[in-house]
Amino acid sequence: MTRTHRIAVIPGDGIGQEVMPEALRTLHAAADRFGFALDLLEIPWASCDWYQAHGEMMPADWKAQLQGVDAILFGAVGWPATVPDHISLWGSLLKFRREFDQYINLRPARLFDGVPCPLANRRPGDIDMLIVRENTEGEYTKLGGIMFEGTEREIVIQESVFSRVGSERVLRYAFEQAMRRPRRHLTVATKSNGIAISMPWWDALADRIGAEYPQVTVDKQHIDILSARFVLQPQRFDVVVATNLFGDILSDLGPACTGTIGLAPSANLNPERRFPSLFEPVHGSAPDIFGRNIANPIAMVWSAALMLDVLGERAAHDAIVGAIEAVLRDGPRTPDLGGAASTTALGEAIAAAL
Ligand code: NAI
Ligand code: MG
Repeated sequence: MTRTHRIAVIPGDGIGQEVMPEALRTLHAAADRFGFALDLLEIPWASCDWYQAHGEMMPADWKAQLQGVDAILFGAVGWPATVPDHISLWGSLLKFRREFDQYINLRPARLFDGVPCPLANRRPGDIDMLIVRENTEGEYTKLGGIMFEGTEREIVIQESVFSRVGSERVLRYAFEQAMRRPRRHLTVATKSNGIAISMPWWDALADRIGAEYPQVTVDKQHIDILSARFVLQPQRFDVVVATNLFGDILSDLGPACTGTIGLAPSANLNPERRFPSLFEPVHGSAPDIFGRNIANPIAMVWSAALMLDVLGERAAHDAIVGAIEAVLRDGPRTPDLGGAASTTALGEAIAAAL
């Protein structure tokens, strides 16, 4: 029987609407080549247009409408000219992340042939890493408060929360990812020299789980020097795991070291698949270039490839990344890569290479 993947497709706002068709073009080409079927559920909400018409970002029954989908493919949300960003983001994307317990944020970063690197003297192959960020707890909580506000005694406390369940599952996921990669190397981001309670505890947990993965080499690095090494010695890194705050920073820094934001993909995962995972480019809706068909679709296409990997179509993932690699090397190129090609032309070239 044919494998069928049921995907909710949410283009959202701005260039989300321009890059999504190119991801779908690639997905259809991959389905033909690798023999799976796609059942696409096209969703008009989670966009600022929908908000303008309905006064909310998503219908009340959004969760029920997404019942039974295997994954969500997401373009971008946000149109600050008409809807404030905190409303558009909290009313859509952040609800998915929380209510679907997408506790892993995954961002690969690779330096490709044909893409100018912002770091001097780096060659393709020097940077190939996967950043695994805890996505639900840690430093990002609403626990705390302000006391004696407006007086000289003013005090503010903001708690960090590290649960054993939450930390174990992200560490374990990172070890599993390291096992799938040729180098089998994991860097654990820490700051046990400064944050003297939670970080030594996190380190000890990493040691305990690491004992189950003797094939994976592990090094722990304090977040400050680790960040410096992303820039100075990026070739040292394979898989990197970090708590929410450190991971947030690293997951912008890593892709930034490899060139344009038009390339960077991401995944928000519920690995057990109790809820659908969400796959989206790192970039936003880019109002400054929307409507000209010049957005780079690669971040969106690569996000769709990550989705296929998680859905068990690893060969299709690898083939799409190979097609992206070929197009980055041989062209055509969108303006952010120094070319003059359109979004559509790039999408067609990737599908053709596939
Ligand atoms: P942005 O990522 O939309 O754009 C930043 C810059 O990068 C712009 O100059 C843009 O033209 C360029 N750029 C982005 N994607 C590109 C692509 N694929 N090809 C070529 N150039 C590209 O970030 P910005 O301008 O801060 O935010 C615009 C809107 O997007 C806001 O409403 C913001 O809240 C939202 N946003 C949404 C995100 C999401 O849906 N996950 C993530 C980031 C921002
Ligand atoms: Mg960020």
